[in-house]
Amino acid sequence: MAILFENGIFRLDAGETSYAMMIGEDRTLLHLYYGARLADSDLGYLLYLLPTASFSALRAELVRTGYSPDTLLQEFSCNGTGDFRASACQIRDADGHSATDLRYVSHRILPGKYALPGLPATYAEDERDAATLEITLEDPHTGLRAVLLYGVFEHLGAVTRAVRIENPSSRTVTVERVFSACLDLPRCDLDLVSLWGHWSCERNVARRPIDRGSQGVSSKRGASGHAENPFIALCSRNADETSGDVYAASFVYSGNFEASAEVDSYGMTRLLLGLETTDFAWTLEPGESFTAPEAVLVYSAEGFGGMSRTFHRLFRQHLVRGAWKTKRRPILVNNWEATYFDFDEEKLAAIARDAADLGIEMLVMDDGWFGARNDDTSSLGDWTVNEEKLRGGLAPLVRRVNEMGLKFGIWFEPEMISPVSRLCETHPEWVLGIPGRGKSIARSQYVLDMSRADVRDYLFDAMAAILSSANIEYVKWDFNRNLTEAGSLLLPPERGKEIFHRYVLGLYELLERLHTAFPELLLEGCSGGGGRFDPGMLYYTPQIWTSDNTDACERLFIQHGTSLVYPPSSISAHVSATPNHRTGRETPFVTRGVVAMGGAFGYELDLTKLTDEERALVREQVAFYRKYCGVVQNGDYYRLISPFEDRNLAAWSSVSEDRRTVIVSVVAYRFRYPRAEFLRLRGLDPEAVYVDRSSGARYRGSTLMRAGLNLTREFRDGESVRIVLEAEA
Ligand code: GLA
Repeated sequence: MAILFENGIFRLDAGETSYAMMIGEDRTLLHLYYGARLADSDLGYLLYLLPTASFSALRAELVRTGYSPDTLLQEFSCNGTGDFRASACQIRDADGHSATDLRYVSHRILPGKYALPGLPATYAEDERDAATLEITLEDPHTGLRAVLLYGVFEHLGAVTRAVRIENPSSRTVTVERVFSACLDLPRCDLDLVSLWGHWSCERNVARRPIDRGSQGVSSKRGASGHAENPFIALCSRNADETSGDVYAASFVYSGNFEASAEVDSYGMTRLLLGLETTDFAWTLEPGESFTAPEAVLVYSAEGFGGMSRTFHRLFRQHLVRGAWKTKRRPILVNNWEATYFDFDEEKLAAIARDAADLGIEMLVMDDGWFGARNDDTSSLGDWTVNEEKLRGGLAPLVRRVNEMGLKFGIWFEPEMISPVSRLCETHPEWVLGIPGRGKSIARSQYVLDMSRADVRDYLFDAMAAILSSANIEYVKWDFNRNLTEAGSLLLPPERGKEIFHRYVLGLYELLERLHTAFPELLLEGCSGGGGRFDPGMLYYTPQIWTSDNTDACERLFIQHGTSLVYPPSSISAHVSATPNHRTGRETPFVTRGVVAMGGAFGYELDLTKLTDEERALVREQVAFYRKYCGVVQNGDYYRLISPFEDRNLAAWSSVSEDRRTVIVSVVAYRFRYPRAEFLRLRGLDPEAVYVDRSSGARYRGSTLMRAGLNLTREFRDGESVRIVLEAEA
């Protein structure tokens, strides 16, 4: 049983981890433990009871015991009643007060995994894979309730959390902050790890020691954003890829978020992850409830490698949905870097012809096919085919492409509107904005008010009309700016702070409608590359365009950082032209292939311009990917050399689930003089004998893991080595 309850103590066992909490004497819910799996359930002795300091406030019923919320590990900390750290929730009651005091009332243990209405969340198809714990807390003064939800994935080392705030009282209240995860750790000798970036340079790994006070990351962009990912990890100071404690949290949400670690004066650390607080509030009328999005907690005693593999498995098996969840994704060619806006049916058909000849499986028509769009200054919102480029609409082109043996995909940017568009002329009130205040413009576009049902209906109908007009099997869903002057004409002033979250709920609703109406459609998320690469989007879009930076050497860093949380199957990566359009760097074709095959593989260049030698390489790459895609998509991922740490190299491997096939990739992003290099592999079967498919060399798994592959040699700038090892029968 994954969830035990004995003598007032809950123990949640997920994979190699345990999570424990206890109902305190005053019925507050206290945190006891999170870490490597425990066998005992009598864990009350772990209660972290410091002698209260003289300024600690004691609740009347606990004066005798000396317990103070100030010095105890809290499971869902309250505001204004003695715990002076940042609180997990703050609710302004009808009298204007923000003190909350939530006490345990009841709990239920249920088979299967809870779902969240209107929100993405991990799920268990087989209810034996997960269990749910629901704990109801109540504030005796206001009658408000917090229902804490825990999802325990028994075989995966992941515990999920969410919370529902209920207002059964007869008065209106305002939820001012609600964090989905609150994790109090009885230690502060930790580093904080986060993923920062900007456009074309996403998810760099940042690591710094935590210190007294509060530190963290957040987004106020209306999207998870390029700048910070909705992920935070605290790790022991010695943690690395293979060892050390890592406590990680990832937010299944695509909008504003906040993650922080606060070290108090008693050496305890509180980790909070949830909705951003300064631009959020939610009015709860009597009888209403508010559900905060899901946070996923992963503890690893095997450093960041262990953490990532748990996230990867969880997201692959229990977050990504639909027809393309496990199916091999088509190898595509996208015309963006091949043509930008300058294309017509003939140009696309020429690319498709070469694609078919080379074994590529899908043509994706990017931005520029609709309205009067020939650059980025117009037409977003006018989702009708530009007949000057595509005569007769989409059907003839798609038919032609299909007849060549290729699937067809299309680009949309549904949430946006160009000031120069028919839609903006007809529906200026659909633009997100504040009456009387100017609107900031970014990439010549505004944002639609996704909180409005009429906007969503319009978008659904427009997209459905296009998708039904031809055999379209893939949509790239883009989002090329962040939210400013966020206001909706439909929201009353007292609900103004709801707009950011309502926007995201609207986005999810539209995505869900599309998913239901077109269940076979493969969706790829995108936001100027990887500006909305988060688990919330992964629930709807099994893959996400990782970055507009397609330079293979730059991608080593971007894909390394992305892989901390997200599985390779979600990381879209394409071979693009050289010199790279963004960076000007020249990288060998082979290496561009090796890097792109670290994720969901495709091309993004003008295939009609390839040399014969390059065409031969494309054929090889396509054949290789078809053969080994399953290992990359469903296997275990090991980061072997971090480009952030090594001055020249990056290396990683994919190991098939049965450990019989291993693909090792090594890339020099900079010239390296000959140097001793023994690359120790991980995750192999120690007893198996592995054969290097190209050299025929044979090694025992244990040798490869202990002594390593001998890579002592010179590496030219941009050179790569890929080794496929197969276990002998
Ligand atoms: C964004 C995407 C690109 C491309 C362009 C089109 O920048 O990340 O891949 O689709 O938009 O305008």
